[in-house]
Amino acid sequence: MFTNKTREGRLITVSNRLPIMLTRADDGEWQIEPGGGGLITALAPMLRDRGGVWIGWPGVVEEDQVDIEPLLAHATGDSGYALKPVVLTATEHDKFYLGFSNEIIWPLFHDLQSRCNFDPTYWATYEAVNRKFAQAVAQHSRAGDYLWVHDYHLINVASELRALGVTNEVGFFLHIPFPSPDIFLKLPWRFQILRALLDYDLIGFQTLRDRQNFAQCVQALLKDVAIQDKGPVSLAQIGTRVVRVCALPIGIDFQEFAQQAASAAVADAAWYIHEALPGRTIIFSTDRLDYTKGIPEKLAAFRYALLHYPELHERVTLVQAVVPSRTDIREYAELKAEVERLVGEINGQFTRAGWVPIHYIYQRLSRTELLAYYRTSEIALITPLKDGMNLVAKEYCACSLEDGVLILSEFAGAAAQLQRDALLVNPYDVAGVAAAIYRAWTMGREERRARMRNLRRAIRERDIFWWVDSFLHAGATYSLNNGTLLEKFVPHG
Ligand code: F6P
Repeated sequence: MFTNKTREGRLITVSNRLPIMLTRADDGEWQIEPGGGGLITALAPMLRDRGGVWIGWPGVVEEDQVDIEPLLAHATGDSGYALKPVVLTATEHDKFYLGFSNEIIWPLFHDLQSRCNFDPTYWATYEAVNRKFAQAVAQHSRAGDYLWVHDYHLINVASELRALGVTNEVGFFLHIPFPSPDIFLKLPWRFQILRALLDYDLIGFQTLRDRQNFAQCVQALLKDVAIQDKGPVSLAQIGTRVVRVCALPIGIDFQEFAQQAASAAVADAAWYIHEALPGRTIIFSTDRLDYTKGIPEKLAAFRYALLHYPELHERVTLVQAVVPSRTDIREYAELKAEVERLVGEINGQFTRAGWVPIHYIYQRLSRTELLAYYRTSEIALITPLKDGMNLVAKEYCACSLEDGVLILSEFAGAAAQLQRDALLVNPYDVAGVAAAIYRAWTMGREERRARMRNLRRAIRERDIFWWVDSFLHAGATYSLNNGTLLEKFVPHG
């Protein structure tokens, strides 16, 4: 049951992906695998905690002709929440997911407009699929439920729900950045996207900068909307309606990560990793294979560090884990080839007997392996060109039981929270990142310990449960009555 003090109904979570994926096993049978990505890692503990219904795409298309319900019923097990699928056709998957979502919104909102493919045929499918999601929400919800829609794939869902006559409160959280007006204005569907966002009752962004960018875009484009800053929220007034806009950095289930990192299985795996790399400082990175993550730039910085700080030779190993992603998009395949070429070049240039500078892993690590790397790596190198939040940075700190150093891009949303105690870098500044690697490598024990203690505290205090409570609380407060603000929004925690 949805336990927020102010509400009675259930929590209906809506995201493009469900937390599971249906895949075909070698014997041709359909099987269930856990889904990946930051959004799922973050939302799964919330759903476990609060129950409710999770609506999303299970990873198959209609043409696969899978009998989904029994598989999902099995996957739901005793998780405490129900999974409800929205199945797409192959064309919808191409034009909505690969097309509008990942060839337009994704690059544009990450400030990479030159990578956008503004194909005019994508929009109609985006609208149609959002309608399909709204129909599923209408079918699986009832009066009093709070509807919470997530991320850039589903911006139109509130408008479609209103068209269906659904009157429940609907909130939206954008997990990726929101761009500045200079960039947003390039979007051919800029008016439709802003209007669709304003059909929600509450819009959440990761950082204050995202919230301000949104407010500036509204001010620049929509003359009938008055937007005022009220401290922790902005209020957008459209006629008699008021839309609340807040900035809440998403967190992780800190306790769970910290406890698992301390387990015997993870301790053993961590011991094994260092045993296989005797005398080395491990610099760890794990990224989805995505051009926003800045993997080639990071490799260039590592090469620069090896060239300019020869003391690092035979003393450090970069472990770069890359998780396959969006493999049907050409640019992602090209990126894989580029990363592998660079890894080959750098290893070819610097390898000595007994020392290979980069260990490259192209697969999803098991949870035990991932936590072992987090726990035992002396340095984490997380340098996206732009990122909504970057939960890997937070997971690393939660698991870093041996006082590691976090090197973090200033363009990750997490930098706003962690800037004091991480080593912040500009990922485009190859020499600067190399200097940060050297600084991390030479940092004394006391400084490392103090910084990591502060980082862990910040992440623990604003964990995933704080984030959920704060969002739902923001949704429950602040209304405008004859132009007067009724209640103050105070984030929990
Ligand atoms: O918010 C970014 C996101 O949509 C998250 O769900 C996740 O981190 C990642 O991108 C996953 O991408 P996809 O669902 O396209 O594999």
